[in-house]
This record gives sequence, C-alpha cells and structure tokens, in this order.
Amino acid sequence: MRFSGPRRPFRARVVVPGDKSLSHRALFLAAMAEGESQIRGLGPGADVRSTAAALRRFGVEVDAESVRSPGIGSWAPPDGPLDAGNSGTTMRLLAGAVAGRPFTTTITGDDSLMSRPMQRLVGPLQALGAVLSVSEQGTAPLVVTGGDLHGARVELPLPSAQVRTAVALAALQADGPTTISSPPGYRDHTERWLHHLGIGELDAAGRFVVRPGPVPALDVAIPGDPSSAAFLWVAAAICPGASVEATNVSLNPGRIGILDALSAMGAEVAITVTGDILGDPVGDVRVAAGNLRGIELHGVDVARILDELPVLAVAAAHAEGRTVISDAAELRAKESDRIAATVAMVEALGGTAEETLDGFVVEPVPLTGGLVDCRRDHRIAMAAAISAGRGATVAVEGFDSVDISWPGFDLALEAMWSSR
Ligand code: S3P
Repeated sequence: MRFSGPRRPFRARVVVPGDKSLSHRALFLAAMAEGESQIRGLGPGADVRSTAAALRRFGVEVDAESVRSPGIGSWAPPDGPLDAGNSGTTMRLLAGAVAGRPFTTTITGDDSLMSRPMQRLVGPLQALGAVLSVSEQGTAPLVVTGGDLHGARVELPLPSAQVRTAVALAALQADGPTTISSPPGYRDHTERWLHHLGIGELDAAGRFVVRPGPVPALDVAIPGDPSSAAFLWVAAAICPGASVEATNVSLNPGRIGILDALSAMGAEVAITVTGDILGDPVGDVRVAAGNLRGIELHGVDVARILDELPVLAVAAAHAEGRTVISDAAELRAKESDRIAATVAMVEALGGTAEETLDGFVVEPVPLTGGLVDCRRDHRIAMAAAISAGRGATVAVEGFDSVDISWPGFDLALEAMWSSR
C-alpha cells in the first residue's frame, strides 16, 4: 500500500472505531453475566473478533450489538484449543476468566502471540489457587485447569492492565475479596467499570479490591479508540496548518499520554470531556499543528503512552531537537519488538533513530519517504502511513495487518487528508 499525503493543509472531524480495550472488557463481562447485554459500537478489528469467537466456544451467543449468556457458572467446556489470534488481551483475559471454571482450557495464538510473555500471568493467578501452565520459554500455549478460587492479595511488578484485568476476572469467581496492586500508569478501565457496577473499589492504600459475585448484564456504548485516533492526531500535528477533531473517544487517564506528549512538544491540543461510560471518561479531542520540539519521556509517562510510541516517533522526526524515550522495555513484548520496529521504520523513511536497551532516540531529521516493512504489526503500519503527511511518499509492506485494530484505516486517512 502506498501513501502520498495531503496536497493542502486539512481540517477534519472524524469518528474513529470503537475502543479495542473497552470492547474486550465489555464482551468478557457480558459473557460472564447471565442474560442479554447490549453493546453498541464494538471495535471492528480482528482482535475483538478473536475475543468474540473464543467466548462463543463456551456457548455464549455474541452478535454485532448483543451478547446472550447462560452466565459464567454455566459456560460449556470448549471442544478444543481456543485461538486468540494476534490478541494479547484476548489470551490474558481468557486465562483469568476460565481460571475458576471446572474444566481445562488450552489457549493458543498466531506466531507473534505465541512468542509473547505469558509467565507474568502464572504467579498472580496461582495466588488465587488457579492451576495453569505455560511453555518452558514462558509463552503460550496456556493450559488453564480451572477450579475453586480463593481471595488473595496480589502485587504485580508491572503496570499491566491485561494482567490486572485477568486477575480481576478470576477474582470475581473466588470465595472472598482479592486486592490487586501494581505500579501506576495502567489503563484503569476494568477498575472503573467494576466500581461502577458495585463489585470493586479502591481501598485506602490505593489497592483495588474485587468483591466476588455475579456480574450484571451490561448496556453500554463503546466510545472511539484513542489509540486509533492517535494516528490522526499525529498526522495533524506534523502537517503545518492542519487540524483534526476526533469526537467521542475514551479519555481514560491511562490512554491519553499521547495528548500530553503532543502538547508538550508544541501541538495545539484541546480536550472536552462530554460524559462517561460506566465511570470512565469520554470526550472530544482536537489537535492542530504547531512548531514541534523534541521531548524526553520516562517512568509513568511512558506507561500512559506505550502503544502510541511508534507514532510519536514520527512526530519526533519532524520536531526541533532530539526525542529520548526510556523505561519502555515493555515495547519489546508487543505484537512486534516495537523498539526495533520503530527505529527500523524511522530509518527506512529517511530519518535517524537509535535503539537503546529500554527505548529509543529519534533525531530531528524529517522523514522523506521510503518502503517500510511493518513486521505484521498494525501500529507500525499505521505510523508509517501517516508519515506521508509531510510530502513524503511511503509504501508499507504488510499493510493489511491494520485489520487487527482498524480495518479500512487507509480510507479513513485519505478521507481526512482530503477534507477542508
Ligand atoms: C491493554 C493493555 C496494554 C496495552 C494493550 C491493551 C488492555 O498492555 O499495551 O494494547 O486492553 O488491557 P499491558 O497490559 O501488557 O500493559
């Protein structure tokens, strides 16, 4: 797929696809609840479809806008291994959900997912009494032999929302409360939703307490995905005179580190909170181009922007001064090694970047175009595509991997570039 960017500065108003993280959570909670749930605006990507397909294997009916379940207590044992595809969230949340079921579940995935770290789930779920195993390398296949779970105190070394959520889904099936703590910076969608539903709360020490019990059926409208909008926000930030407004996106504090970073770099960022979904804020965000300067990010600021670091690298190349990202070793454990893939992308496009052990450095050398192999990583494919926004011609090999989170991204990008 080739991109040659806008001919003139653009002004656009966009609606991005439903949030991937919230779509997974809504499907899992609705499948655990007994009865019919309404979920409007599910993310259209393959990852969300992987969760829907896995849940159907337990006898849960999942349609475009509704989920009907007998309740997790009556889930049928699956008739073979479950395939989580490319989706880490599907695999990790599934492991937590089946930990309390009285049957064995084997979970596999594609080559990328089968090489991602799953050991991090084992200790936390075992603390609740779950029986599960991973390969000798600490990867899938995950084999979970469910059984009776007890409440526990779980302290996680990483700010991983997926592991926190896996523990919470298991904890809902335990015989007593579970407390979950981790370093900050994670997206706290699950915690906000469970709190809103009356089955979880923060204690005085800031730990999340899950109170076991039935999950009520849901009636929710999923807002747009800020991790998808991020590509359009950066596309506007790097194109002099351009602006884009994305309406009705999740504004969870763990998701909008990209907006803080763009603002610190000199882009114009205006955020309007318009409401919430089960206690999780939602709103409109307008980003306009500015004279960008390089930035240094580390610590909790990195956790809040992790998925957006590949596209931030594109903004960094068009800034004045170098950009330095550290404390981002987790990037190596994503759909690709995103430290290596981001640096390779910048270099393939004519920029200058360098890997460090736990991050990367981008020099202020504008991207002039080239051919990028996105390593079958949707976020690298989309980051490369938007770099055409400054007059470069960009070709992306493996562009169809955008199907993971945003099928039709190319059409949305071209439409934005041609709006006035
Ligand atoms: C996600 C959590 C994050 C994020 C991933 C989606 C989620 O991963 O990078 O894209 O939906 O909970 P970690 O939990 O591994 O940090």
